[in-house]
Amino acid sequence: MKVIKVKNYEELSVMAASIIGAQVINKPQCVLGLATGSTPIGTYEKLAEAYNNGILDFSEVKSINLDEYCGLSGDNNQSYRYFMNENLFNKVNIDKENTFVPDGTASDSEKECERYEALCASLGYADLQLLGIGHNGHIGFNEPDSAFAAVTHCVKLQESTINANSRLFEKKEDVPTSAFTMGIGTILKAKKILLVGGADKKDIIEKAIYGDVTPEVPASALQLHKDVTVIYVAE
Ligand code: F6R
Repeated sequence: MKVIKVKNYEELSVMAASIIGAQVINKPQCVLGLATGSTPIGTYEKLAEAYNNGILDFSEVKSINLDEYCGLSGDNNQSYRYFMNENLFNKVNIDKENTFVPDGTASDSEKECERYEALCASLGYADLQLLGIGHNGHIGFNEPDSAFAAVTHCVKLQESTINANSRLFEKKEDVPTSAFTMGIGTILKAKKILLVGGADKKDIIEKAIYGDVTPEVPASALQLHKDVTVIYVAE
């Protein structure tokens, strides 16, 4: 595991975008595993900047996103599909047909999980998976649990996650209570993983990467992967 401590969010964003950019340059037809949330917004801005400067070409890139709220369609501005369009896909020359996010409106959730996992498998999983982390150690929407989930599944969100995400909704009651998420097993199938966290994630990141490997801290499973880079803000 490569651990890089940076001074601030700007450095974090530049460094994460550089690693993702290098992936795109080295393998133009790569599959990027992408995350939503506040942390990667700066990274996506830097990627869009590099595209605008003619440094990056996303025309052959495919992407698979970690997760999506159940019940929200892609044109709902709280959906993760909407977030991705706004923060990255609309700003670069990626073909939206090649961007994949679980379908929040799927009526048969079990079928949707199987479909999404099979889709990830058919693409050979991510060449590089970008991850943020929750204060409780969640990655994707894999919440602390008694076992690591192997594949894409539908989860009931924990109160702490609903509270954390409610900042983005008009009222807490609007936050969906369940979501589709890649499993820890799906995430670990990525060839490379890049975990990023701001200053408020320092403690949980250190617990995840130096503590016991336990499903109580879902991100601790990253210790089992052979090619993980962690970038976080620490003084
Ligand atoms: C989002 C995701 C989540 C977030 C995590 C941190 O697709 O998978 O695990 O990465 O909740 O979110 P922020 O960056 O908003 O603190």
